[in-house]
Amino acid sequence: MEVYRALTVDWKDSKLQPEIRDYSVDDLPEGEVTIRVAYSSVNYKDGLTTIPGTGIVSHYPHVPGIDLAGTVLASSDRSFKEGDEVLVTGYGLGASHPGGFSELARVPASWVVPMPSGLTAKAAMALGTAGFTAALSIHRMEQNGLKPGQGPVLVSGATGGVGSWAVSMLAKSGYEVTASTRKSAEIEYLKSIGAQETISPSELEAPEGKSLSRERWAGAVDPVGGPFLTHVLNAVRYGGSVTLSGFTGGTELASTVYPFILRGVNLIGIDSVLCPMDVRRTVWDRIAAEWQPDGALLDAIVHEIPLSELPAAIAQVLQGRMRGRSVVALS
Ligand SMILES: NC(=O)c1ccc[n+]([C@@H]2O[C@H](COP(=O)([O-])OP(=O)(O)OC[C@H]3O[C@@H](n4cnc5c(N)ncnc54)[C@H](OP(=O)(O)O)[C@@H]3O)[C@@H](O)[C@H]2O)c1
Repeated sequence: MEVYRALTVDWKDSKLQPEIRDYSVDDLPEGEVTIRVAYSSVNYKDGLTTIPGTGIVSHYPHVPGIDLAGTVLASSDRSFKEGDEVLVTGYGLGASHPGGFSELARVPASWVVPMPSGLTAKAAMALGTAGFTAALSIHRMEQNGLKPGQGPVLVSGATGGVGSWAVSMLAKSGYEVTASTRKSAEIEYLKSIGAQETISPSELEAPEGKSLSRERWAGAVDPVGGPFLTHVLNAVRYGGSVTLSGFTGGTELASTVYPFILRGVNLIGIDSVLCPMDVRRTVWDRIAAEWQPDGALLDAIVHEIPLSELPAAIAQVLQGRMRGRSVVALS
């Protein structure tokens, strides 16, 4: 019987701790498609599965990993057959369902995306949920009228996964990108992936007593939220869009109505988890066609780690110390 390894989070000494465990194929969950996982990647949400009370995981032991890419081993659904290259991100993967930090995975067919033409499993996971979220954010801003040439587009949390990909994709599409980061040591990195300008989040604060600031941004990709979002909304140009995808800076939203009723600003919520399959496939096709990273960009943004280094990478992402993306090689 085939044995496989997976990173497992379980209670030990009253703490949730990650460790690598062996499983047999009989341990695989329900689902129509069995996949030999080639690569997964580390996201902030994977880190949250190791913190009690976040509500992401209801049952331990748990295998995290909200992303995977690999090859179909078997499928009872006719949409897929042995040998197909596929990817899965979101839905219940790594949350209500065992995830991609595993050499084998089994998932419902309705979660599976055929690998877009020209994209490798490694590049797909270098992007993963973070790259998909960045791409969905740009896609939704463009549906709301954003075009290159309208002014600078701001990206927050720019050294993180969503932020790094948003910077590089926007630059590739011809946008003028301003990258916001708390890490002054990473300015050269952000310029190397496409930022024309970098700023510190503290530079965005409105002068005391003012609810609106000077109109600066044609759009903004914001995976940070919290007080940062308040300041961004106050400085978006007339008719501009802000896509909100994350909350590393906090979950509260404090704003007046003025950006919306005086400047027609759009605040667009971004959800990669339950994003409908037709939109999902459109965005992955755009990634493969327009935003596929070249070798130099992959070298700058991505580092590959084995399964054994995952516990350290999870700790790093939780501490906000991750630069770019960690891709996990599984087979
Ligand atoms: N809506 C969705 O479907 C979706 C999908 C993917 C991710 N997300 C969410 O998006 C967020 C970012 O994900 P990610 O994968 O990019 O994470 P990440 O790689 O850990 O990057 C997050 C970045 O946020 C900034 N940051 C961290 N702590 C902060 C704080 N206390 N205050 C202000 N900035 C802080 C840091 O950038 P700097 O140091 O450069 O400022 C950090 O690199 C998370 O909240 C995640 O859950 C949501």
